[in-house]
Amino acid sequence: MAENGKSEGKPLRIGIEAIAFDIPEHYLEMADLATARGVEPAKYTAGLGQKQMAVATPCEDTVVLAAGAGQRLIKNFNIDPKSISMLIVGTETGVDHSKPVSSYVHQILGLSSECRVFEIKHACYGAMAGLTTAVNYILSGRAKGRKALVIASDIARYGKNTVGEPTQGAGAVAMLISDNPQLLEIDYNNEGFYATQVMDFWRPLYSKEAFADGHFSIQCYLDALSGAYNLYKKGDEANGAQSKAANGKFEACLYHVPFVKMAQKAHQRLLETDGGQKFEKDSPELKAALQDFEKRVAPALELNARVGNIYTGALFLSLAYLLESSAGKLAGKPISLFSYGSGCGAEFMGAKIMEGADRLMKVESNEEILSKRRQVNMAKYEEILDACSKMDLNDEENLCQPEKWDLKRPVLYLGTQNHKRIYSVNGVVLN
Ligand code: CAA
Repeated sequence: MAENGKSEGKPLRIGIEAIAFDIPEHYLEMADLATARGVEPAKYTAGLGQKQMAVATPCEDTVVLAAGAGQRLIKNFNIDPKSISMLIVGTETGVDHSKPVSSYVHQILGLSSECRVFEIKHACYGAMAGLTTAVNYILSGRAKGRKALVIASDIARYGKNTVGEPTQGAGAVAMLISDNPQLLEIDYNNEGFYATQVMDFWRPLYSKEAFADGHFSIQCYLDALSGAYNLYKKGDEANGAQSKAANGKFEACLYHVPFVKMAQKAHQRLLETDGGQKFEKDSPELKAALQDFEKRVAPALELNARVGNIYTGALFLSLAYLLESSAGKLAGKPISLFSYGSGCGAEFMGAKIMEGADRLMKVESNEEILSKRRQVNMAKYEEILDACSKMDLNDEENLCQPEKWDLKRPVLYLGTQNHKRIYSVNGVVLN
């Protein structure tokens, strides 16, 4: 049994035992969005690195996506719901000013009432804060063999004709944290974090859509990365590391991915932080950084390119993809994870991919999940956005009408009546 960071005298291994994601059932091609907005498609595809964008219908809210990811995790990894004694949902797109998304998810997943259940909000950093909270819970010995379920769930929405529109998306990633980290072991002996107050991205209480100072937000992200990584390096040196380029040991580097090109900018900044200066345009250093990006970062980004920004789950979506596509090749190898949440807070940590993780990830492939989606055209996309803007009104006229949106998922948000949100599971309305 785990106690005070030790298990029978040996340091405790903690990390991710199971992972699964859920995405909306519809998507839009980026080229269609670009054409409709009078923009060169290459700006969105090559310039931002995006191929497609997930589009959540009114019946697919943050709760529905979180529950979908949790259900898939429980089914695919054969997890006993009663073994879970902590449920954390990280989200920027909560559904109530008071009631947490996690309470609804707790009911839908059928978890025990002997469970701590709460929501964490810090823009895109919420789920990373949940992950470190869960790791510390297991490390403290108070979990006593039980597990923590951390779910990142968000609907990234800036609205029609905004500069942020091509960086929208939606989805959820669920991760089971325990002392049986059969997918990914977290290195809890070192961590780098960073925070400062900036107005780079925010969503006022009255708005369903986010506001962003786009180019400033990119700078804030990069500065937070340097700050968190520098602190990590100090810890690494204190732990006896020989090299000052702490990132050199990582076989893959994962980042928060609001859009794919951001991960490329981030990786360049990581390498520049070691050298203490910016790489010049066309310099050999910049060329080497781009090659290194292709080798250590790009292989994890396919899901991000086809789903879009899912805010607090974006980093973990790329982890899910890496685990399925490369866990065999990377077995036993260290990787890094960097989370950025606007406002801002950030964290850099190391982890190790476990032997056998590739076999465990084979139950349901990423491609299988993606291939079940249906494409929408611009007219349908705009109709969905308009309908979503009314979906939280306390209004019997504007209930979500699942039949209208061609949905096949078991869990649905049906609308708000008598000021209460209504969900159904397999057609049965929940109390
Ligand atoms: N062919 C190829 N590339 C092209 C092109 C073309 N025809 N036209 C433009 N491009 C390139 C540009 O050169 C640029 O690439 P570089 O950055 O490498 O130079 C890229 O396409 C984007 O062009 P712009 O910078 O002109 O794009 P924009 O002004 O429309 O804004 C954006 C882009 C700032 C990301 C905007 O979409 C936005 O505000 N998004 C929301 C905020 C955001 O995602 N911020 C990220 C950091 S904050 C964070 O990470 C938290 C979070 O999740 C929100």
